[in-house]
Amino acid sequence: CIGESGVGKSNLISRFAKDEFRLDSKPSIGVRDKLIKAQIWDTAGQERFRAITSSYYRGALGAMLVYDITKRATFVNVGKWLHELREFGGEDMVVVLVRNKSDLDQSRQVEREKGKGFAETEGLCFMETSALQNLNIHDIISQKSLETK
Ligand code: GTP
Repeated sequence: CIGESGVGKSNLISRFAKDEFRLDSKPSIGVRDKLIKAQIWDTAGQERFRAITSSYYRGALGAMLVYDITKRATFVNVGKWLHELREFGGEDMVVVLVRNKSDLDQSRQVEREKGKGFAETEGLCFMETSALQNLNIHDIISQKSLETK
């Protein structure tokens, strides 16, 4: 999980992980009846941790690249993160561009179409989420994000 500081990476992951432990919950990730064990790295968005972050890319099957709809700068910098992913990650890595904090639509600085357009141009999956409202969190790591590609 990568992206600028404060976009909501930790909260997205804790939402995901918490639901996994609910007694009545279905398997969090089920693809054709097979369970997949996922190891998710929560990276730090701050510049000073950049060198550490890049070492996590190697061997990763997928990446969530998160931006915050209320902070234009976090979207502007998505290109920088993607460049890093492509430099250090494997060729087959699936990247999901995550438009987080969709509950704060009234403070929106980035139109949905901007993100979607960028994802299409770059061949990324695209997902709109709210860690606060628990919206689409599980879909990031399931088939659904691939369907919206
Ligand atoms: P770094 O660890 O600095 O890289 O930040 P991060 O990307 O892990 O962000 P974090 O999860 O710590 O969230 C930053 C702030 O945004 C916190 O105050 C969260 O409560 C808030 N936040 C995260 N996701 C959402 C969301 O979907 N909606 C709203 N309204 N707030 C959110």
